Amino acid sequence: MHPQAEVAVIGGSGLYALLADATEHRVETPYGPPSDAITIARVGGRSVAFLPRHGRDHRYPPHLIPYRANLWALRAIGVRQILAPCAVGGLRPELGPGTFVVPDQLVDRTSGRAQTYYDRGAVHVSFADPYCPVGRRTVLAATAGHGIDAHDGGTMVVVEGPRFSTRAESRWYSSIGGSVINMTGHPEAVLARELALCYTAVALVTDLDAGVEGGHGVTQEEVFRVFGENTARLREVLLDAVVRLSAERACPCPHSLDGIKLPIELP
Ligand code: ADE
Repeated sequence: MHPQAEVAVIGGSGLYALLADATEHRVETPYGPPSDAITIARVGGRSVAFLPRHGRDHRYPPHLIPYRANLWALRAIGVRQILAPCAVGGLRPELGPGTFVVPDQLVDRTSGRAQTYYDRGAVHVSFADPYCPVGRRTVLAATAGHGIDAHDGGTMVVVEGPRFSTRAESRWYSSIGGSVINMTGHPEAVLARELALCYTAVALVTDLDAGVEGGHGVTQEEVFRVFGENTARLREVLLDAVVRLSAERACPCPHSLDGIKLPIELP
């Protein structure tokens, strides 16, 4: 029996640890092990879990992250609310490096990733609004509390990677209404919804994508450097948001599976 946590942060590139005085737990799932050990600590009265999305040594590239194991493991230890920081490219000139974006929409351009727990039966979750509205408001309040002018809303385009986009692809993503672009936002968000978890993406812009005016063609070095320059701010916002997040889930997320006959038992 693992210790229980209520809230989790899934750390992105450059955020491989978050919690002080944490205990470490290896959790097995029917989908194999998650990206790494899960650390758990108390933060301001809440029990908080941290899982580095890519593994703490960044062993998993975006297309090979064990997304199903990660979300399953978090639910199995009791987590019901997730904050999901990630590095993104800006698809609009005004969303430059260092900007925080709390997206409200997602466009899936990935291919070949396992993106459901339900390979049998009829389980069709609603995904019109992919992110928890309360989680979004909470993160925006936390950023404002730290004097950060985060961008409220926007569409995150999620590409398969691991390469960055061509200028033509990037221009097209902007033209269809994309605000930011990354490689890990899907299927993480939908798997959380399939487990009736609250999920909130916290995007940090590390670069202007290739098709954007002023965008010079993204490099990996730039993404990691800019993310690294902002991890202290990001960490503060996340720890604050975790404490501000109400344990009462007054949002639609817990009801995602209401009335649906599940072909598998959830942890
Ligand atoms: N992650 C960070 N910047 C990115 C970009 N420009 N494209 C895809 N993923 C990213």
